[in-house]
Amino acid sequence: LPAPAARAGSERPTVVAHRGASSYAPENTLAAVDKAAALGVDWVENDVQRTKDGELVVMHDDNLRRTTDAEEVFPGRSPWKVKDFTAAEIARLDAGSWFSPAYANTRVPTLKQYVDRVELNNQKLLLEVKNPELYPGIEEQTLKVLSNEGWLDRAHLTDRLIVQSFSADSVRGVHELRPDVRTGFLGTPPVADLSWYATFADMINPSYTSLSAGYVASVHQTESAHGGPMQLFAWTVNDADAARQVGGYGVDGIITNSPDVVRDAFPAG
Ligand code: G3P
Ligand code: CA
Repeated sequence: LPAPAARAGSERPTVVAHRGASSYAPENTLAAVDKAAALGVDWVENDVQRTKDGELVVMHDDNLRRTTDAEEVFPGRSPWKVKDFTAAEIARLDAGSWFSPAYANTRVPTLKQYVDRVELNNQKLLLEVKNPELYPGIEEQTLKVLSNEGWLDRAHLTDRLIVQSFSADSVRGVHELRPDVRTGFLGTPPVADLSWYATFADMINPSYTSLSAGYVASVHQTESAHGGPMQLFAWTVNDADAARQVGGYGVDGIITNSPDVVRDAFPAG
């Protein structure tokens, strides 16, 4: 695969809608994907986990309490872990009312439903394998869903898909299974370790709070698994001043709950 070119200083960083446009619609739902599309934002980020009966679903927390009505629907099922509920049970939950009554009865999407909607909207996907230590084999399973839905063809691999995780083992697992998939490690590893991460990752995606221009330069000076400079997307930047600050560090992308705010912090280009 060709390595994406590094961002020129004058270009706007890639804007990624974190958990979808999650300032405006309930996170990790199809509504949040559609809201990003309505704002004209190409990239969406999501979090993937697995149900008791082996379905991949899109959910950030390892339990259902914060973003669904699981406690009401299934009293006595404490601590309401994703891995302890079947896909059919999770499909009954309301994943929108916690955010706003306007989103009542919004559902938790399966990964298949999610990628199909991203495809329909002609968007791009930054997929996070979340809590992989809880779900042995989730990397292979995720790649299988992506493959079945047509997301591992050349067009998607070149420019429309990145798989990331806070777990180096998980990122390395994805890379070993499918070396043609672009991958990112979530975190801020020491500069001395970057060349090791580059053996399986194309990107380093750190919290913006830990970032400096020097660190971004060190990432760019490291050759990625696919050749060319490693890239860096910073998270989670929700205001214009912080966006301009990390933009000035030379980041390639910014992951944000408010993608319109971040986009508009930069001149078009
Ligand atoms: O994509 C980066 C960001 O999503 C990592 O943090 O906790 O929101 O998954 P978290
Ligand atoms: Ca995430």
